[in-house]
Amino acid sequence: MSFSVTDQETFSITTPIYYVNDVPHIGSAYTTIAADVIARYQRLQGKSVRMVTGTDEHGQKIQRTAEAVGRLPQEHSDLIAKEFATLWQRLSIQVDSFIRTTDPRHEAIVKEFFQRVWEKGDIYSGQQQGWYCVACEEFKEERDLLEGHHCPLHPNKKVEWRDEQNYFFRLSKYQSQLEQLYQTHPDFIQPESRRNEVLSFVSQGLQDFSISRVNLDWGIPVPANPNHTIYVWFDALLAYITALLEPNQEPTLANATAKWYPFNIHLIGKDILRFHAVYWPAMLMSAEIPLPDRVFGHGFLTKDGQKISKTVGNVIDPVDLVDRYSADAVRYYFLKEIEFGRDGDFNETRFVNILNADLANDLGNLLNRTLKMVHKYCGGHVPAIEVTQIPPDDVLRSKGEELGKQVAAAYEELAFSQACEAVMALVRAGNKYVDEQAPWSLFKQGKQTELEQVLYSVLESVRLAAYLLSPIIPDISHAVYRQLGFSISFNDPNIGTEAPFSSHAKWGVLPATQALGEPEPVFQRLEIP
Ligand code: MSP
Repeated sequence: MSFSVTDQETFSITTPIYYVNDVPHIGSAYTTIAADVIARYQRLQGKSVRMVTGTDEHGQKIQRTAEAVGRLPQEHSDLIAKEFATLWQRLSIQVDSFIRTTDPRHEAIVKEFFQRVWEKGDIYSGQQQGWYCVACEEFKEERDLLEGHHCPLHPNKKVEWRDEQNYFFRLSKYQSQLEQLYQTHPDFIQPESRRNEVLSFVSQGLQDFSISRVNLDWGIPVPANPNHTIYVWFDALLAYITALLEPNQEPTLANATAKWYPFNIHLIGKDILRFHAVYWPAMLMSAEIPLPDRVFGHGFLTKDGQKISKTVGNVIDPVDLVDRYSADAVRYYFLKEIEFGRDGDFNETRFVNILNADLANDLGNLLNRTLKMVHKYCGGHVPAIEVTQIPPDDVLRSKGEELGKQVAAAYEELAFSQACEAVMALVRAGNKYVDEQAPWSLFKQGKQTELEQVLYSVLESVRLAAYLLSPIIPDISHAVYRQLGFSISFNDPNIGTEAPFSSHAKWGVLPATQALGEPEPVFQRLEIP
């Protein structure tokens, strides 16, 4: 049976819309990998998935960057947007919609939204005075600044004094509605620590914020007053909605929100939490558009324990990492090593050691040694064993039967590290099982049925491990599946019908007598540089 898209439940997820002031860095790669893993998991569950990412191209920050390198802002944005799209391909990210805020359809969406909020009476003209950080594209409170008026997030940049007429959004009007939202939907902001941060910020009392700029050409003009440009954050948040338009659809809010909306998850870094958990829901409330289900703010990456920064000179180039180590290696390290939601560190020695231990030694080796034995002792076919012949208390069977549920719960909670741990526990048990059961000696003793049961149990455990890790390491999982005789690709967008979670996440799926492929290492050992 095949399902048309409308028969299926939908799932939509976003990454932030990345600034094009510079080529992608490891922080943007981290969020996008995580979003892709969630999207892939939901595809396995048979959902019709829309994974949204894109580039944030308007505003003073981008205008100045372009000027500094002698390009027009559009020309500069075109170049950098391409770098993002290429990196996502290199990292095996399945992007369903790549939105650029300079897309003409986006302007129509922003203007319609602005108009709605305007008609609601939530926009007024006022005088904005304050310290502005161009790198954050945000006004800062004097008390939050470092000495000499430097921004705490950009200590090498001075904030700038602004005193200009702006349009303001009546955020203060939504104070109690927001508080009610956080109370009635305790999962709206995750993890808990971020939720507490937001609750404490909101409890201090919300202030209206300015949503237009004067003396800035690079942006979308305010409909009623083209001397003003719409504030880049107001513009960028709406890109999430524009991204839901189908390619030739008329750009209206009604069209954009018809199918994939509301979003299931906005995945972001902790530095842009306020925009997503306070400003954005209030904007949506004003425009009377439903709110997303949850906003998840992950932690920050450091390198060798230090903040990653150009000034320190310790930036990690994601393209270089993929070139040297492969997409799956990069994906696995960041998700396995760092508890999602917390800050985490990149250290190249640990990177190499973890990958060698988990993917080359434990997973790769288990498949390789078992396949070789099956070729030698069972003629290159999956042993003709009925799962019911394997005792229910067989170590691998009993672990394997619990694993799908456990790993699904971990993915649902975005606990990727736990998902990896649980799967690797089965893999390690598989290696121990081979050592203990010693199939070579069962062969010598002529115990063919026992031998076949053992080898079936191990092969099936490797299969299950590869399936459950496929959202994280799709290329390796594909290689494992191929060697086990399947012609399923985990990059197939129809994977949810080809190999649905409801059947493939169970133990005992490997068909008896299926012809097996030649054993080849699925992950080459890495050298410490
Ligand atoms: N353009 C805005 C987002 C608009 S969304 C409507 C923006 N862009 S950004 O390119 O500066 O940042 C994108 C993301 O990268 C943020 O989620 C931020 O948290 C993340 N990171 C930036 N540096 C990071 C680390 N060192 N570690 C992890 N994530 C980091 O903000």
